[in-house]
Amino acid sequence: MTNFKYFDAFPAVRMRRLRAQPWIRDLVQETRVSVTDLIWPLFIIEGTGVREDIPSMPGVQRLSIDLAVDAAREARDLGIRAIALFPVTPAHKKTEDGREAGNSENLICRAVYAMKKNVPEVGIITDVALDPYTTHGHDGLLRDGVILNDETVEVLCRQALVQTQAGADVIAPSDMMDGRVGAIRAGLDRAGFSNTIILSYAAKYASAFYGPFRDAVQSKGCLTGDKKTYQMNPGNGTEALREVALDLSEGADMVMVKPGLPYLDIVRDVKQTFGVPTFAYHVSGEYAMLRAAAANGWLDYPSALMETLACFKRAGADGILTYAAIDAARLLAGK
Ligand code: PBG
Repeated sequence: MTNFKYFDAFPAVRMRRLRAQPWIRDLVQETRVSVTDLIWPLFIIEGTGVREDIPSMPGVQRLSIDLAVDAAREARDLGIRAIALFPVTPAHKKTEDGREAGNSENLICRAVYAMKKNVPEVGIITDVALDPYTTHGHDGLLRDGVILNDETVEVLCRQALVQTQAGADVIAPSDMMDGRVGAIRAGLDRAGFSNTIILSYAAKYASAFYGPFRDAVQSKGCLTGDKKTYQMNPGNGTEALREVALDLSEGADMVMVKPGLPYLDIVRDVKQTFGVPTFAYHVSGEYAMLRAAAANGWLDYPSALMETLACFKRAGADGILTYAAIDAARLLAGK
C-alpha cells in the first residue's frame, strides 16, 4: 500500500488537480462497473403471458416462463452475461419436506430448459435451497423445531441434479447447510456433470434485508421462526473466512457474500484472502430501500444505483447480483 508522507505538502500537492475536468477524472478512475459484472435475478411463476408486480420491489415483476425468456433476450442484447432464476412455487405444491424441489418437471427446471433453448448465450444460475418448496419456509428439512443438516443435504443433491439435467450452467447453494458443496459436487460428478460450476453462497447472513424477496417468492407467510441456526450472525467477520475456506475446499468454483452493501468489509476480506471469483448479492431489501427513497424524491435512482454498484467493485467484488441489473445495463448503454 502507498506510504503517505505528505503531511506538509500543500501547496505543492493539490488533490483537486486530478478532479478538475471529466477527462482527467476518467483517466485516474480506479475501478468501473461494466455490464459484464451484472447478474440479473428473475422470479418465475406458472402460466403464460403472466406478469405480476411485487409491491415491496417496485420495478420488479414475477414473470411466467415465456415472458422471462423475452426478458432474458433483452438482457442479452444489453450485454448481461448471466441470469439467476427463483421460482414462485404454487401453494398447493409446497409440502413439509419440499419434495417438489427434486421434481425434474418443476417450474424452475422448465424455466431453465426454456432459457437454454431460446437464449443459450446467457449463463443460467439456479438456487439450491428448499425454502420455495416447504410449507414452513425453511431452507432445510424441519423436525421437532430443528433444521436437519445431513438429511437436507441429500435432498439438495437431488435438487442440484435435476436443475443441472435441465441445463443450468451454475448451481448456487444458498441453504447454508454444512457439507452441502462437497456433497453436491460429488453427486454432479458421479452423474457426469463434472463441468457444472458451483457458486456457493458461502457467507450468507441471517439478515433482515431479505424481507421483500420472501414477498416475491411468497415464502414469508410460511416462515416459522428465523434462519439463525444456519445463516450467519451479522456480527461475525472472521467466521465468513472459515465458511469460504470450507466451501472452496469442498469444490466451490466461485463464492458469494450476501447481503451486499452492509457487508462490503466481508467482500473485501474474502477477495483479498482467497483471490477467487467473489460475488456480492445486492439483496431485495437493499434494492427496495433505493426504490422507496427514489419514489419519495429523496434520492436520484440512476445515480444512487450506479454509485452503489461502483462501491461493490471498489470493495473487490468481481460481479454483483442485483434486481437493478437491467436498469444499470440500460444506463451503461446510454438508454
Ligand atoms: C433462499 C434465498 C433467499 C435469498 C436468496 N435465496 C432468502 C432467504 O434466505 O431467506 C434472498 C435474496 C434477496 O433478499 O434478494 N434461500
